[in-house]
Amino acid sequence: MSVTSKSIVVLISGSGTNLQAIIDAVNNGSINAKIAAVISNRPDAPGLERARKVGINAVVIDQKTITDRDQFDEALIDEIDKYGANLIVLAGFMRILTEKFIDRYEHRIINIHPSLLPEFKGLNTHRRALEAGKTRHGASVHFVNIELDDGPVVIQAEVPVLPDDTEQTLAARVLEQEHIIYPMAIAWYIDGRLEVNDNNILLDKSILRRPALWQANQLTFSE
Ligand code: GAR
Repeated sequence: MSVTSKSIVVLISGSGTNLQAIIDAVNNGSINAKIAAVISNRPDAPGLERARKVGINAVVIDQKTITDRDQFDEALIDEIDKYGANLIVLAGFMRILTEKFIDRYEHRIINIHPSLLPEFKGLNTHRRALEAGKTRHGASVHFVNIELDDGPVVIQAEVPVLPDDTEQTLAARVLEQEHIIYPMAIAWYIDGRLEVNDNNILLDKSILRRPALWQANQLTFSE
């Protein structure tokens, strides 16, 4: 593994399978950065154990203790600023962030959302895709702005919706692809290949007119 001075902080709320994919990508050298800390808003998030197991700082800022939204985000900022991270990675972090937080880390917060944005912003995306009779569904990696699930999209993974899919089988098929595209996008950022300029995504200095597409184990770019 090459020596790196870059670092990321990962925010979680739950099981942390995306966090695990990121830990694995750091360990195998595909993400050339250190995970400085994993922060959870819930003390019982199983993802915390994934961090502890490999010696990463696992920090809890409990939303039951700090119930005020501004105060919570101020505590989050205080914690994050200890690490001087290059990128803040939301990996199943189920909270809406305040404008103050988003402004502070402008263009440096990335999220994964389980739908083909702009479709199905918000919760219960798999159920809603099934109810809408979609034949394709997926996940999107995007930079975070003040609107919910609305920032510019870097890459999407697309999967077929099968006739006998349940919410669970569809979620599992999407999640498997999340574990591929999220580390990929983070690696692009860390390697200095990915930037945001106004509302545009630049990859290798060229504007991405449409998100990169990961489908059937292939990456494609379209005009
Ligand atoms: C993932 O499916 C992620 O896309 C989703 O939460 C799950 C977290 O799983 N995020 C959102 O819905 C954010 N709006 P994980 O804890 O196993 O990574």
